[in-house]
Amino acid sequence: MRVLGIETSCDECSAAIVEDGHTILSNIIATQIELHKPYEGVVPELASRLHTQWIGTVVQTALQKANLSSDDIDAVAVTNRPGLLGSLLVGLSFAKGYAASLGVPFITIDHIRAHLYASQIEHPLQYPYLGLLVSGGHTVICRVDGYDAIEVLGTTIDDAIGEAFDKVAKHYGFGYPGGVAIDRLAKKGNPLAFLFPGPTLHTKDHPYDISYSGLKTATINQLDTFWDGKSEKSPENIAASFQRSAVNMLIKRVKAALEETGLKRLSAGGGVAANSYLRSELETLRLGGYEVSFPSLKLCTDNGAMIAALAYRYLSDGIRSDFSESASARVTA
Ligand code: KG4
Ligand code: ZN
Repeated sequence: MRVLGIETSCDECSAAIVEDGHTILSNIIATQIELHKPYEGVVPELASRLHTQWIGTVVQTALQKANLSSDDIDAVAVTNRPGLLGSLLVGLSFAKGYAASLGVPFITIDHIRAHLYASQIEHPLQYPYLGLLVSGGHTVICRVDGYDAIEVLGTTIDDAIGEAFDKVAKHYGFGYPGGVAIDRLAKKGNPLAFLFPGPTLHTKDHPYDISYSGLKTATINQLDTFWDGKSEKSPENIAASFQRSAVNMLIKRVKAALEETGLKRLSAGGGVAANSYLRSELETLRLGGYEVSFPSLKLCTDNGAMIAALAYRYLSDGIRSDFSESASARVTA
């Protein structure tokens, strides 16, 4: 079964064709980064306008790259939640029209579930496993018992981890997008130049919840308080120290969740799963005996392949969506 997956929830306009849920025949990602750069953030109206202009070409290119015609598509899948509403509606409307014109099944997909599923395309894990979703909008630690059976164990109570990366980078003018800029700078910095405080939040009822606003504020407003007194206050050192703290806070929670749930497998996904320090910490967990799966870089950030691959699971179980389905900016389940 060849599924066309469409993703337009934020600033990537993507279409992919995935065969039988695992073979990526094409995965076209047209990024709007350069066009949002002057504003140092995604401008929602501009994003949806660009999706409207690009989506037809992006889908055509996905077909060409896969050496297929529209007649070879067996189903159409599209992200419909959560994300920027105007952007979601562009992909959703296009997908409905495309599926209707081809007379093939149509299905809507949850963006967060798709990020969590992305690692399964290349490195499938047996269920159950611990899921870690780290993106610009979400930070979630969960128990995954099946592609559609996810129990949230912990989440951020304020900023998402990617949001904290982006805000720190924006404040210091490190570059856009912020996460990538910090990752790049951190490679040349001293991660111990600033010893930012660890997580303060650790309640008995919500042991896996996390908070990033304290670390963000400390990095932006209280550099001197956490300075080692001798290292240079350089962008590289700020980036490396912030990144170390942000990732360590997460890994601490992940380790506790693995120990307390007894789960032996871990899968990570989302844009921040592209972070080189986080990836090295995940490798360390692997050396510690856990089975760890995380996506290749192209499948960490937003892409149509994860939408098509997860859609294949639903479609194989006979699940379809109705053309009356709408989009939602918020997490709905
Ligand atoms: O998954 P994604 O593409 O979109 C959302 O669903 O949010 O994630 C985007 C987030 C942004 O906050 C971006 O700064 C972050 O992922 N990101 C990174 C890296 N690459 C992307 N954060 C840290 N290190 C990276 N290498
Ligand atoms: Zn995303």
